[in-house]
Amino acid sequence: MTRHVVARVDEIPPGKRKIVEIAGRSIGIFNINGEFFALRNRCPHQGGPLCIGPLGGFVSSTGPGDYSVSRRGEILRCPWHGWEFDIRTGKSWFDPQRIRVRSYDVSVEPAADELMDESSPGAMQPGPYQAETYVTSIVRQHVVVDVPE
Ligand code: FES
Repeated sequence: MTRHVVARVDEIPPGKRKIVEIAGRSIGIFNINGEFFALRNRCPHQGGPLCIGPLGGFVSSTGPGDYSVSRRGEILRCPWHGWEFDIRTGKSWFDPQRIRVRSYDVSVEPAADELMDESSPGAMQPGPYQAETYVTSIVRQHVVVDVPE
């Protein structure tokens, strides 16, 4: 498993997405009300670009003229033929046990971790001088995706 910083948190506001390329895979990163999810941008049906599809919700009904919508923005519909997937699990709506799109673990981490990790290539190295510093309330954060090698 390798970890990839894919965006600053503020690059993907709630309801938005970003499509990234990681190790030859196209992956969609979604922000659903502040929670982040990552799905392979390849539909299991015929390989359509799933992650550019519209987001909707579940519609349920107890009878004619009565319906309700739940989980708004959590159901991703493939733009090619309309197969639908739960963005939280990658499972299809019509056959969740057999048909699913690959999902990846996503975490939000302070950007400072990456900058101060002295072992990572290009990381900042501590110098001999120390400036006076102040505590601030703004912490930049990154969206990190775990992808198998
Ligand atoms: S390729 Fe996605 S529904 Fe057909």
